[in-house]
Amino acid sequence: MKDIVENRQRISLGKKVKIALLALRENGIVWTVCLAVYYACSAIATKAFARMDALRRKNQLPGLNSAAMNKLIWESWDWGAGGEEWSPSPEWKQSVIDCVLKKHVNKGDRVLEIGPGGGRWTEELLNLAESLKGADISASCVEACQQRFADAGNAEFFVSSGRDLEGAEDDSIDSLWSFDVFVHINKPELEAYAGEFVRVLKSGGKGVLHHGTVGGEKGGWRSNVTIEDMTRILTDAGLEVKEQFQTWEDDKGTEFEAGLYQDAITVFVKK
Ligand SMILES: C[S@@+](CC[C@H](N)C(=O)[O-])C[C@H]1O[C@@H](n2cnc3c(N)ncnc32)[C@H](O)[C@@H]1O
Repeated sequence: MKDIVENRQRISLGKKVKIALLALRENGIVWTVCLAVYYACSAIATKAFARMDALRRKNQLPGLNSAAMNKLIWESWDWGAGGEEWSPSPEWKQSVIDCVLKKHVNKGDRVLEIGPGGGRWTEELLNLAESLKGADISASCVEACQQRFADAGNAEFFVSSGRDLEGAEDDSIDSLWSFDVFVHINKPELEAYAGEFVRVLKSGGKGVLHHGTVGGEKGGWRSNVTIEDMTRILTDAGLEVKEQFQTWEDDKGTEFEAGLYQDAITVFVKK
């Protein structure tokens, strides 16, 4: 029932009045008033979003994606669902595990997860990892993971500044994993992180980052990072980008997407 607001221009105002009268005859007054409210509010919301996006670009505003804003939002989040509210289906989650996570994170790796949140991917990472460190800007996420994985024995979680990996030693990590996190992180923090990836990864160590590609113009609280920014920032830091993809197929040939807002996954290595 929800429509694409931009497509409404394809019907003239006169015809829209006719449609409204027919809708009234066929559906009654309450339904038609709700339709009018929906049309008006969604049109205003779409215009407001376009204006926010334009202002953010023109004045280089952080939008909802500064480190301070991320900290406040994610410390306010109810983590009761453990992050599963972002998994569109159990099949999609399993495909991320089978086709992305297990392809790049090896058994016995020393793993660093950035932004574990409620631990949606941490459980699977812990099955593979010799040891796991989880760095999150939100103290409530760190507490949630410390409780959830208290019995793991090989996991350690710490609160980070949102731009560094202070709790991880130099040249100590085989694989970095971060899903649904860099979609929310703006360019200055990504640049700072890229230097940290170089510092903490062992030579030949690998990173897997899920991120936005269009600088936030499709919504979803995405940051100002584009796919070109991601490639440039990692490359400038001295990392080698190996793969970038937005979809993948499982062994039955079913195609899955990285996210709802033209998100992508970048795989890189430290040379
Ligand atoms: C949408 S949640 C995703 C959580 C988890 N990775 C998942 O996929 O379920 C975003 C997570 O990123 C964390 N985060 C946001 N900005 C961050 C930053 N600059 N550095 C580290 N963690 C950050 C948040 O605290 C939150 O845990």
